[in-house]
Amino acid sequence: MSEINELYQQVILDHNKNPRNFGIIDDATNTAEGHNPLCGDQIDVYAKVESGKILEIKFKGAGCAISKASASIMTTLIVGKTVAEAKGLFDDFINIVTADLSDKCDTLELGKLAVFCGVREYPARVKCASLAWHTMMKAIQKSELDDAPVSTEDMEITI
Ligand code: FES
Repeated sequence: MSEINELYQQVILDHNKNPRNFGIIDDATNTAEGHNPLCGDQIDVYAKVESGKILEIKFKGAGCAISKASASIMTTLIVGKTVAEAKGLFDDFINIVTADLSDKCDTLELGKLAVFCGVREYPARVKCASLAWHTMMKAIQKSELDDAPVSTEDMEITI
């Protein structure tokens, strides 16, 4: 394993052990439930969005190490961003985890998102890593008419 991959693996282990922004926001403006029916894991996302900006974001639930670490890292990247910026980060994240193995992971260009480059090597874990991100997207775009939980089985991810 390269030094950089080892470093990223340590970041993931650290976020799993000490998840950031773990908990509930009592006065959340936007929430969504995320569920992976294949394993039963659940990650719920709470956000406080004002004037198109994500002022606070937290998650709660039980999941595997990858899903929990991914949720934790996602919150650190999304907090303080506008909804449009969060959507952009979501698109970048999906491109990273579903990229072809032969695609180079440009760590300089990707910044903190580069930590997810290793996920593409484990297709079975793509849904684990994506659970919180899809749930975040559902939360920040939430319309009051649509309360259905997000399921990893509805995700448009080709692996
Ligand atoms: Fe359930 Fe990873 S095994 S989300």
